[in-house]
Amino acid sequence: METAMNFQEQIKQGIPSVLPQAKAYPADANRAPKRKDILSVDEKQLAVRNALRYFPKEWHQELAVEFAKELKDFGRIYMYRFKPSYHMQARSISDYPAKCQQAAAIMLMVENNLDPAVAQHPEELITYGGNGAVFQNWAQYLLAMKYLSEMESDQTLHLYSGHPMGLFPSSEDAPRVVVTNGMMIPNYSQPDDWEKFNALGVTQYGQMTAGSFMYIGPQGIVHGTTITVMNAFRKVLSKGEKPQGKIFLTAGLGGMSGAQPKAGNIANCVTVCAEVNANAATKRHQQGWVDELIDNMDELVARVKAAQANEEVVSIAYIGNIVDVWESFYEQEIFIHLGSDQTSLHNPWSGGYYPVDISYEESNRLIREEPEVFKTKVQETLVRHAEAVNKHTARGTYFFDYGNAFLLEASRAGGDVMAENGIDFKYPSYVQDILGPMCFDYGFGPFRWVCASGHSEDLDKTDAIAASVLKKIMADSPEEIQQQMQDNITWIEDAKQNKLVVGSQARILYADAQGRMEIAKAFNDAIEAGEIGPVVLGRDHHDVSGTDSPFRETSNIYDGSRFTADMAIHNVIGDSFRGATWVSIHNGGGVGWGEVVNGGFGMLLDGSDAAERRLKSMLLFDVNNGIARRSWARNEEANFAIKREMARTPKLKVTLANVVEDDILTKLSF
Ligand SMILES: NC(=O)c1ccc[n+]([C@@H]2O[C@H](COP(=O)([O-])OP(=O)(O)OC[C@H]3O[C@@H](n4cnc5c(N)ncnc54)[C@H](O)[C@@H]3O)[C@@H](O)[C@H]2O)c1
Repeated sequence: METAMNFQEQIKQGIPSVLPQAKAYPADANRAPKRKDILSVDEKQLAVRNALRYFPKEWHQELAVEFAKELKDFGRIYMYRFKPSYHMQARSISDYPAKCQQAAAIMLMVENNLDPAVAQHPEELITYGGNGAVFQNWAQYLLAMKYLSEMESDQTLHLYSGHPMGLFPSSEDAPRVVVTNGMMIPNYSQPDDWEKFNALGVTQYGQMTAGSFMYIGPQGIVHGTTITVMNAFRKVLSKGEKPQGKIFLTAGLGGMSGAQPKAGNIANCVTVCAEVNANAATKRHQQGWVDELIDNMDELVARVKAAQANEEVVSIAYIGNIVDVWESFYEQEIFIHLGSDQTSLHNPWSGGYYPVDISYEESNRLIREEPEVFKTKVQETLVRHAEAVNKHTARGTYFFDYGNAFLLEASRAGGDVMAENGIDFKYPSYVQDILGPMCFDYGFGPFRWVCASGHSEDLDKTDAIAASVLKKIMADSPEEIQQQMQDNITWIEDAKQNKLVVGSQARILYADAQGRMEIAKAFNDAIEAGEIGPVVLGRDHHDVSGTDSPFRETSNIYDGSRFTADMAIHNVIGDSFRGATWVSIHNGGGVGWGEVVNGGFGMLLDGSDAAERRLKSMLLFDVNNGIARRSWARNEEANFAIKREMARTPKLKVTLANVVEDDILTKLSF
């Protein structure tokens, strides 16, 4: 029986041989929103027929009724009764029943993505982003874990949007798991196609690191936001000026946006972050992610003026609408150095963005009962929002779009945000101005690792190893990358005291190809010497090479190729035969279904010579594939970086772009 079995036996069993009891939904769980009722009656039958494929015939009658009800109540079939009773968390790698360590490492990462401390809707197997799924249902989870427990080091598990198609013979150098999520025939990649095919149980939204088991909680987002805010201040401050007492005004204290005040504190500025949902703001305050809570505008104005005058480092949450803050600060002549926005404008009509002058409760009523009125109010607010931002930028504020579709939706609403050419926006995105040219084009991106022993001492040791490797590299690095190196040395030296670990013993930093390879090699040596246990390497998909996304990761590609996805596909194929332990490629992530193709990898370091060979081969390609493409797009920083890499790596030969003079082109007649 299910409960009499220990953890290892339950994993090895897969789908239980005896039908488990139906379970009550846990009262304290954060349930996924009810999905759109999009299937016809015939299609609903097909969805149940599809779900029953996982189970023996004698259970079909009972499960068919239950699954039909899940589909009716939640818009999806999650198979709640099959969720295992053991606690979901990253255990030590040695606790998993496995025939090869690589498989055990993958099990650890899967469980971390479903840990209730890490995952947003753990009962629905959703890690983050509202829809970022690890698997579509619990049967897929059980089967995948069983396959992993049986896997030998010359087999590969193929996962089709969470569905374990099976174990196939391969070789020791092949990936142990190949993941695809949401890959569609391009003409079937509209948002409603996801609703439909996900409800049928044949595809899923993997987001970025959810479907590839590489999510490590909020640490990744804190680091990325810190790097962005620090570099944005560098753009606007003159040499020698410090961010202390300078204002970063933004909105949103939700999933990712909640990292902004913490990042602002690490970047040493005054962060003012508006949040309409009092619960979200209070939660972030209780967690220590924001220092002060204020719900009155006069009080906010007085507090901010004091923080400016005293050159403080402080983060303040304002419970209210962001538009009120932009407008009041203008009247009060409060100078904002940096402005941005992280409301969920990728989802404007269902609560991602709240209209001004209407209470939070009334807005929620309008969403349910008068969606058209709500939509009009959102559009009116966006126009006002853009107008207030424009007034501040006319005074000198630097405003950037944070990849949340603010400029896109403001333009659609009729807001004054278009550049004179009528094609581009007035303001840059954070990738166009900051992360692209200052980080990605040089190869700097979100490298991460997880100490598979689960011991915090291992994490401390890897922090120290990474810091010493980076310092050594920095001593000989060119001027162009000194700042990035120093930022990441400071980050890693402070990481422990910033208490960023949630779930697995994980760490993130930005490094270029050389940094990533040398850190990984030093970890592998330490594992071989018995100083630390095995380490899983990976990265966010939001990186140099893994993601093609025209309005985000590749928004600073100006040769027209930002609407292609060749780079991401080459990345996943290239990584897979250079030694990745698992690879993944997804449609959708951050900016929406059909808007991005993104991929990633995981790699187990076990101290062996084979691991050293793999890390050297794969990490070199994993970063330089993207630099080569960015350089071919004529990005100067990438051109600099790829030439450096070719000088270091004689076998790397990349096609370089010749740059034509503008006046040759402007004289042409067409
Ligand atoms: N952090 C990053 O690095 C990053 C990168 C790319 C994109 N994004 C984008 O940022 C957005 C936010 O992500 P999230 O996970 O935090 O979403 P979320 O929905 O969890 O949080 C957004 C918050 O904004 C609040 N809000 C909405 N309208 C508001 C208004 N008018 N005034 C004040 N507060 C308002 C909501 O109440 C909510 O708490 C998404 O669109 C995401 O794609 C973030």
